Amino acid sequence: MATAAQLRPGFYSETCPEAEVIVRDVMLKALIREPRSVASVMRFQFHDCLVNGCDASMLLDDTPTMAGEKQSLSNVNSLRSFEVIDEVKKALEKVCPGVVSCADIIIMAARDAVALTGGPDWKVRLGRLDSLTAKLEESNNIMPSPRANASFLINLFNKFNLSVEDLVALSGTHSIGQARCFSIMFRLYNQSGTGQPDPAIDPKYREKLNMLCPTNVDQNITGNLDATPRIFDNQYFKDLVAGRGFLNSDQTLFTFTETRKFVKLYSKDQNEFFKAFVEGMLKLGDLQSDQPGEIRRNCRVVNKRQLNTFWES
Ligand code: HEM
Repeated sequence: MATAAQLRPGFYSETCPEAEVIVRDVMLKALIREPRSVASVMRFQFHDCLVNGCDASMLLDDTPTMAGEKQSLSNVNSLRSFEVIDEVKKALEKVCPGVVSCADIIIMAARDAVALTGGPDWKVRLGRLDSLTAKLEESNNIMPSPRANASFLINLFNKFNLSVEDLVALSGTHSIGQARCFSIMFRLYNQSGTGQPDPAIDPKYREKLNMLCPTNVDQNITGNLDATPRIFDNQYFKDLVAGRGFLNSDQTLFTFTETRKFVKLYSKDQNEFFKAFVEGMLKLGDLQSDQPGEIRRNCRVVNKRQLNTFWES
């Protein structure tokens, strides 16, 4: 079993001093080109780190012998903007080839997405390696559904040493970005098999959602996760208090008493939200792989093994 790497700020200060500037620059360009793309990249940290640690396993494309995580239940037709990571990697490989891992790129890019959209900025710990494989089954088993309720989510986060406060603060990432009608059809028309909508939805907001996602809609149509989807702020929590959360997994944080107090606090105090959020992101980023790794040259594929050169020589 590989030992966990010692993560620390400034890991590339000697081997690639411009790394963090380069990542932020590409993220800024992505934001200008397509504002939603930075939210989409931000989401990678959650989907990467929960599945065998932050090792960029979810960036691997399928191969004839390996079904990657891109096809998992939560990821397929949903994760997007992989090309932004490709662009970051290309820019880094030009300046310091073979030095900066894709797993670290995800961590820096997620931080930058938040900072560039008005949220907090913070120092990230770096020094991760990229996985040699991906785990479709694990992604299927671990990543939560938009139907999940707060007690399920509390248990899930607990397994990763993430507290109730971390759960609520990290869910605040839904302050930016969008989700598909696919993710809310059940709560609009058949919550928990009742044939009725989720009673926690504000009726005016439900009218809006019904217009966006009628029963015969193309379920890839998307809606905003909060009222200010391009700004990282505490509007998400204000929306939850008003019954205007988009996903069931969002609104449930206000329905349940254990999580409600944090939703209320963050809806009133953006600084408290930002503080708890940064802490949650650092903890999420500290989840490490127990498998051997490498620095991938291309985030979508593992490096060619030295074995070939051995046989050829
Ligand atoms: C607490 C459990 C969570 C659940 C159940 C959940 C679920 C979801 C779902 C269902 C979507 C929309 C997918 C679609 O319709 O295609 C989404 C979007 C998103 N999630 Fe989460 N999420 C959770 C936590 C997180 C965390 C911890 C982060 C980041 C740290 C995050 C970041 C995002 C972002 C930024 C988007 C919008 C992406 C875009 O616009 O492309 N989520 N999430």
